[in-house]
Amino acid sequence: MANRIRFGSVFLLILLLSAAYVAIAERRVSLLNGYDKSIFKSSFHRIFDTSKYGILQLQNGLARTPQMGWNSWNFFACDINETLIKETADALVSTGLAELGYVYVNIDDCWNTQKRDSKDQLVPDPKGFPSGIKPLADYVHSKDLKLGIYSDAGLFTCQVRAGSLYHENDDAQLFASWGVDYLKYDNCFNLGIKPIKRYPPMRDALNATGRSIFYSLCEWGVDDPALWAGKVGNSWRTTDDINDTWASMTTLADLNNKWAAYAGPGGWNDPDMLEVGNGGMTYQEYRAHFSIWALMKSPLLIGCDVRNMTKETSEILMNKEVIAVNQDPLGVQGRKVKVFGKDGCLQIWAGPLSGSRLAVVLWNRCSVASTITTDWNALGLKPNTSVSVRDLWLHEDVAGDAMSSFGAEVDPHDCKMFVFTPVATFRAEM
Ligand code: GLA
Repeated sequence: MANRIRFGSVFLLILLLSAAYVAIAERRVSLLNGYDKSIFKSSFHRIFDTSKYGILQLQNGLARTPQMGWNSWNFFACDINETLIKETADALVSTGLAELGYVYVNIDDCWNTQKRDSKDQLVPDPKGFPSGIKPLADYVHSKDLKLGIYSDAGLFTCQVRAGSLYHENDDAQLFASWGVDYLKYDNCFNLGIKPIKRYPPMRDALNATGRSIFYSLCEWGVDDPALWAGKVGNSWRTTDDINDTWASMTTLADLNNKWAAYAGPGGWNDPDMLEVGNGGMTYQEYRAHFSIWALMKSPLLIGCDVRNMTKETSEILMNKEVIAVNQDPLGVQGRKVKVFGKDGCLQIWAGPLSGSRLAVVLWNRCSVASTITTDWNALGLKPNTSVSVRDLWLHEDVAGDAMSSFGAEVDPHDCKMFVFTPVATFRAEM
């Protein structure tokens, strides 16, 4: 009898494992559908490993593509108030940024007081937000935008305002009652409790409100969130805070690159918000920052004062073709595929796009201009594939039938960004 039960359990286990294997295999096949073996080498699937794609993601209907919007922290820090938030919403609309997809207006730290009220509720800071958050959410919604707020999975926020640890349900209900659409959840004053314990309760509390609230985890990459946060939130910071320098930006790009296989619709790696327009980098450096963030399927959260953008800043943030790479429905994170030159400062970054296309960035991180050439091998393409090449910064088709390699001269700290369309595949799809 005991033997029969044991045999039955083993049989059931094998059955379950086979079912799981088939489900995973099916998902892989459907993602790679349309990849024509006459064009793509088998190495393509190794270079752009998608083995974790969609498996870890939280399917709460949000974040089908990386979130886009604005956040107060990088430029304003604690110098925020309700007028600024309203004017920012107005500017997102009047500049045309909203129409391009920048819809989240996210208030960061310093919107609330250090103490809770007599009912143990969070309190908007009466100095900056005397009318409270609800009217602000109504205003933002009246512009067809969404309102984001910030709290902390600890006793206090990083600027020592009240945090949400052990108040998850109350705070989620409060946010939902105000009409909040997005929560960034920080990691200060955390009592040394592991993030994997502190972040899920807020997910459950947000779910319990019945309102769709985007959940952005900000535990700074300390416990490798790519390995577990997909089941908890819609994006997770993979790094410490960005600052407005070339050194910080390049370091964060490299750190975030490590987790490329774990991103996908529903949950994204987050190397922190954009610094474009804040003055610490050159036009070329900001262009590279934006291109690489877009390629990595990073959240595109503007961090400058959108009421006062220069022409150069808006040209970068409003490049529709680069945004389209970020928002491509395939949702596979692009990554660093080859480096050469001194200390590897000449770099090729690339990623698959829908329609069997590829996004390719030639990034010159050296201090002198150089020609950067990618051969098809680095991209997993067969050498005899003919590729049409579109330059996303020039907005021009620059080659109709590139074969086996493609190169361009790139200024120091600048990049060039292209969409590669293998022509044979293109023909096959017509
Ligand atoms: C942390 C976060 C930042 C920002 C600040 C606010 O450092 O990582 O993005 O929210 O807190 O205090």
